[in-house]
Amino acid sequence: MKNTMMRILRTGMILLVWFPFFGAFGQEITIDVDARKPGAPIQPTIWGLFFEDINFGADGGLYAELIKNRSFEFDNRLMGWESFGEVSIHEDNPCFDRNPRYVRLSYTNELNATGLENRGFSGIGLKAGEKYLFSLYGRTSGEAPVVLLVQLVSRSNDILNAKEITITGQEWQKYEAELTSPVTDAQARLRILVKARGSSADLDHISLFPAKTWKNRPGGLREDLVQALADIKPGLFRFPGGCIVEGTTIDTRYQWKNTVGPVENRPLNINRWNYTFAHRRFPDYYQSLGLGFYEYFLLSEEIGAEPLPVLNCGMSCQFENNDDHQHCKVENLEPYIRDALDLVEFANGPVTSHWGKLRSDMGHPAPFNLKYIAIGNEQWGELYPERLEPFIDALRARYPDIRIVGSSGPYPDGKEFDYGWQEMRRLKADLVDEHYYRPPEWFLANAARYDRYDPQGPKVFAGEYACHTPSRKNSFEAALCEAAFMTGLERNAAVVHMTAYAPLFAHYDNWQWRPDLIWFDNLNVVKTPSWYVQQLFSTRKGTHVLTTTSGEKPLTGQNGLYASSVTDIKTGEIILKIANTSPETRNVTYRIRGGEKGPLTAERYLLTSPGKEDENTLAEPLNVVPRKEEITLTGQEFTLSLEPASFQVFVIHPK
Ligand code: AHR
Repeated sequence: MKNTMMRILRTGMILLVWFPFFGAFGQEITIDVDARKPGAPIQPTIWGLFFEDINFGADGGLYAELIKNRSFEFDNRLMGWESFGEVSIHEDNPCFDRNPRYVRLSYTNELNATGLENRGFSGIGLKAGEKYLFSLYGRTSGEAPVVLLVQLVSRSNDILNAKEITITGQEWQKYEAELTSPVTDAQARLRILVKARGSSADLDHISLFPAKTWKNRPGGLREDLVQALADIKPGLFRFPGGCIVEGTTIDTRYQWKNTVGPVENRPLNINRWNYTFAHRRFPDYYQSLGLGFYEYFLLSEEIGAEPLPVLNCGMSCQFENNDDHQHCKVENLEPYIRDALDLVEFANGPVTSHWGKLRSDMGHPAPFNLKYIAIGNEQWGELYPERLEPFIDALRARYPDIRIVGSSGPYPDGKEFDYGWQEMRRLKADLVDEHYYRPPEWFLANAARYDRYDPQGPKVFAGEYACHTPSRKNSFEAALCEAAFMTGLERNAAVVHMTAYAPLFAHYDNWQWRPDLIWFDNLNVVKTPSWYVQQLFSTRKGTHVLTTTSGEKPLTGQNGLYASSVTDIKTGEIILKIANTSPETRNVTYRIRGGEKGPLTAERYLLTSPGKEDENTLAEPLNVVPRKEEITLTGQEFTLSLEPASFQVFVIHPK
């Protein structure tokens, strides 16, 4: 009660100052929705996801591995590990040729134990009663077996569970153990001790996964994080980035062929977000690639999203490199183009093909039915189209049905953007990727952006966007401005075929970039207000746009209102979306031409919050969430009272 009063008081104070639109209080606004003839089809891909391994989104995030530097391949070989006693790193006669290093543990004496401890990713998250699957590859240096003690250790150094593993023989073998945690602990550790005198033990790929993963797949993905993706019901899934695709140098670019086949032999790569921001460095940020292209295609299929892989176009990150010496010369692009062609074969090829066979061997004989591919991330200038062109020629020749996404660079306007679009038209790219991380004013001012686009040209992929307020929080204000803007995306579904908020994930302790759609720690997930906006659009996307006007113009900010409507011709529903960014209640009268006579039942979803900085946190994960209610509407004409600073969705059911 006290909290509610505080919120109401805060509302009064804050709403007066933060929303830019004033006036029209009590004014009647009429909105006409033409339901007689459905307009442009809404593409199933319109509301999508963008995944990049930033903010520990993959290792330490979606990829459920709990051990950091499991293969001892980080530049600092024992980073992530505490070692004590006789511990050394070797790489002769390795277990995995592409991750050759391993650790050797030798018994010292009873007083000075030899062993290792791993602290995971800001600790190892354990849940009470849950099982954890431990594994390693091991061999002994001599005839005598080596007994290891594997322990789960709490934050306060209590031993939570322990198992013995006996390493026998001088050939590499896999060893496994199951450990159950009696407690919940976000910052536990894994300890391995050599228990008794014997030979030395060589160990590699030391791994610990929760048994409970998405679909309970061993070595799988974190279930709660995948669920947060699945609940959006995304139509599209872009992967693996972002700048990750480009690499700071061409050698550290993302190479999909390194991400398939047995995880143990996927060569480690340094993560470019390790060092990108001097004020948020993470020297321990690497890519194990355990979440690779097979896992990505499988996940896309399981959450019902069309995969959109992004491949390097022969250029390293232009933001980082001011000249072109880091790029591949046009005449040397063949391996890059081959990578693109081979990826299509990996996704769609018959099991008799080279890459189709690998997909099948990994567990998916059926094709993934890949339809789209993007070449280049945020490329700009003449260097890009001259590289993109040979990719397009090769892809069109071999896979004419694959739709190709090109880039318009990192900015949503200006010289480079205009040049990028001009070139994409010339090259007949099917879609053009636009990126905008912009302030609230930009999002509100750009709600009519796509009203001016040519529906005959390449389609739009709004491939990375997020509203950045000065605080850079995932605030209610940011979400409301995104919702207002998204009505413009929806209204222009004839042009806008794909969109994705970016970035997707951030670990509370390990982020480099914010805002982000989903936050998490080692045990919990927090969905931001922006997540709820994405979900409201995506799960009520309809099948066709309905013309929605006020005074014969689309609502793109008049009286602080932004609106769009769709119908679902399969269910007969009419879905109205409207953002009121003003500080006043707005009374709007909807007139549905061609709508059914009432009374009609409808669901109303209301997303609002008293303060612009309000957000969802670990302590209050449900602070800003939509409220749902069942309402009855009088029929073809009805008046709605829209709360100040609110986003609302009305799903009107046919009789
Ligand atoms: O989403 C974060 C970064 O923003 C992406 O890696 C890049 O494409 C953009 O500059």
